[in-house]
Amino acid sequence: MRIIVTKNYEDMSRKAANIISAQIISKPNCVLGLATGSTPIGTYDNLIDWYKKGDLDFSEVSTVNLDEYRGLDHENDQSYYYFMMNHLFKHVNIDITRTHVPDGTEPDSEKACSDYEAIVESYGGVDLQLLGLGHNGHIGFNEPADEFPKTTNCVDLTESTIQANARFFEKIEDVPTQAYTMGIGTIMKAKKILLVASGIDKAEIVKKAFFGPVVPQVPASILQFHPDVTIVVDEDAASLL
Ligand code: F6R
Repeated sequence: MRIIVTKNYEDMSRKAANIISAQIISKPNCVLGLATGSTPIGTYDNLIDWYKKGDLDFSEVSTVNLDEYRGLDHENDQSYYYFMMNHLFKHVNIDITRTHVPDGTEPDSEKACSDYEAIVESYGGVDLQLLGLGHNGHIGFNEPADEFPKTTNCVDLTESTIQANARFFEKIEDVPTQAYTMGIGTIMKAKKILLVASGIDKAEIVKKAFFGPVVPQVPASILQFHPDVTIVVDEDAASLL
């Protein structure tokens, strides 16, 4: 596990984008696993800039996102599909038919999850998986639990995650309570993992996840067992290390 400590959010975003662009340049038809949330926005902004400057070509890239809220459709501005369109896909020359987000509108959760797992498998695995880190140690929406979920699954979001997400919705009742997420097993199968974390509010969980015991109560701690993980954190998030 490599830990790169950067000065601030901008520096973290540039470093993370550099790692992703190195992946795209070295393997133009790579499969990227992508994340939503506030942390990767700056990373995506850099990728868009570099695409506009002619340094990056997404034409052969495929993507699979980590998760989607159950019940939200593509037009819902809080859906992760909408997020990805607005923060990356519509700004670069990616083939939209090769971008995938779990189908939040599929009411049959078993079908939604097995269909998504099949899509990820059909690409022969993820080359580089980008992850953010939840305050409770979740990756994707795999919340603290008694065991690590293996494959794509439907989760009940914890109260703390619902509260954390409430800032994006008008009222707390509008925050979805369930999500479809790649499993920990799905994430661990990626060849390389890149996790980004920023801010003092992430300092405690960064320490717990990467220097504490590997337990399903801190889902991100499993990354200690992955052979190729790069963690890019800013000084605030690294302040307890
Ligand atoms: C998003 C995701 C989540 C976030 C995490 C951190 O696709 O899977 O695990 O990465 O909740 O979110 P932010 O970056 O908003 O702190």
